[in-house]
Amino acid sequence: MKFFIDTANLAQIKEAHDLGILDGVTTNPSLMAKEGIKGEEAVMQHYLTICELVDGDVSAEVLSTTVDEIIEEGKKLAAIHPNIVVKVPMIKDGVKALKWFSDNGIKTNCTLVFSAGQAILAAKAGANYVSPFIGRVDDSNWDGVELIKQIAQIYKIQGYKTEILSASIRNPLHIVKCAEAGSDVITSPLEPILGLLKHPLTDIGLAKFLDDAKKMRHELATAK
Ligand code: E4P
Repeated sequence: MKFFIDTANLAQIKEAHDLGILDGVTTNPSLMAKEGIKGEEAVMQHYLTICELVDGDVSAEVLSTTVDEIIEEGKKLAAIHPNIVVKVPMIKDGVKALKWFSDNGIKTNCTLVFSAGQAILAAKAGANYVSPFIGRVDDSNWDGVELIKQIAQIYKIQGYKTEILSASIRNPLHIVKCAEAGSDVITSPLEPILGLLKHPLTDIGLAKFLDDAKKMRHELATAK
């Protein structure tokens, strides 16, 4: 399973990259706004900076909602860097644009997916990635991980090549459950990724090992 970081924050992208486990980055207009990135030129430059930091797919979301405009905007985004993946919303014109991008060799990520039916449409339209938002599904009193399982099963039966990119991750257990459910990729903020490191028995065990080794070094030094 690939690990993408879900942020436009350069320091956090760098921190995840330095861990050596980062395969890509996803952003969305809200994440860009959170970093205060304003205006087309600044947005384009920010995507380029991210692409230069991480050698992997970088999702850049269109703001347009009509097919011709999505295609024009997507072409501009794709021209920024070969690793740009055009992120397209799951709406009727988005599906038409996904098909156009697929026919014209531009990589896509179909976003704002909340049902298996939407995931089937995204795959039929040739999206490279489909992004079910599992945290938001959980928030609406449904089960986000169950949705990933269902999509994974359908894609396997049907032989769809679209990769399942589990998004809207809120905690480390979401990441583990997505791996178990057959997700191809997760995109997560930094905290849940770092949360995977944590176990109290690791800390207790390491403290004991270091303490025992220190005692041995001390015994050796005092025996001389
Ligand atoms: C990523 O592709 C999505 O835009 C993102 O994961 C949404 O996350 P949120 O539900 O925490 O805003």
